[in-house]
Amino acid sequence: MLSDYKTALVTGASAGIGAGIVAWLAAKGIQVHAVSRDKARLDELAAKTGCTAHAIDIRDTGALEALEALRDVDILVNNAGVSRSGDILSTDRCGVEELVDVNIEAVLHLVRIAMPGMMTRDRGHIVNVSSIAGVYNFSGNTVYHATKAAVHMLSQQLRIAAYGKRVRVTEICPGRVETEIFGKVIGDMARAQREFYDGFESLKVEDIVAAVAYAIEAPRHVNIGHIEILPTFQVPGGLNFERRAD
Ligand SMILES: NC(=O)c1ccc[n+]([C@@H]2O[C@H](COP(=O)([O-])OP(=O)(O)OC[C@H]3O[C@@H](n4cnc5c(N)ncnc54)[C@H](OP(=O)(O)O)[C@@H]3O)[C@@H](O)[C@H]2O)c1
Repeated sequence: MLSDYKTALVTGASAGIGAGIVAWLAAKGIQVHAVSRDKARLDELAAKTGCTAHAIDIRDTGALEALEALRDVDILVNNAGVSRSGDILSTDRCGVEELVDVNIEAVLHLVRIAMPGMMTRDRGHIVNVSSIAGVYNFSGNTVYHATKAAVHMLSQQLRIAAYGKRVRVTEICPGRVETEIFGKVIGDMARAQREFYDGFESLKVEDIVAAVAYAIEAPRHVNIGHIEILPTFQVPGGLNFERRAD
């Protein structure tokens, strides 16, 4: 139960889903380490919630290794993520490297550093925020889909690694959530609001926080492995079949 857990580390804490999870954990009395790059926003969150701010780029593996708190956490929330517009045909080198580095390589390092302590203490919970992009194919950024598919498989594989210990693994797999992510992708928050959110009943940060809370607050003999959560009006799937002109 949550009362077994004393500490947490949340990546992508400066905005959106991550900030919501930090606030919920802190309100539950957990000592939360909040990680992302934007120091000013982290400091604001720390003032509001009492979390400890760590302004770190998670692509900096040395900085993750130097983060002492990571070795002792009961709850690790791998939430930081980035996306790009366009598919593999229009992706440049940076569009591959940044997404791979943030969305999957950093997650592997964070787990590699945090999980041994959880195994020794026989107590821990890893929450990975993936995406429906990791389990369904639809129009979107190819690299993003590929990295989120890796997080999906990693989450299942971690259950094998944790076998025999009270270390739980939960994958949260959301559809569209109203955050800053689309604004960052197209470089225009107001246009993203108009194109992706106005008129749609998207998920809110609190819907994802509620899913995380459900998994974390489950009795300790219960592992909630995978939660897919979509807006009611968003359905994945579809099939294309192009007739050749010649
Ligand atoms: N919103 C959606 O529709 C949706 C749907 C499915 C899945 N998701 C996933 O949900 C997670 C949270 O996204 P969100 O929607 O809350 O997006 P967001 O509002 O853009 O927040 C992304 C967070 O990731 C952090 N981040 C990005 N690059 C980083 C880096 N190199 N080092 C450290 N932190 C970094 C950002 O902080 P800094 O810029 O301060 O570093 C920010 O706190 C992501 O994994 C995303 O893929 C979102």
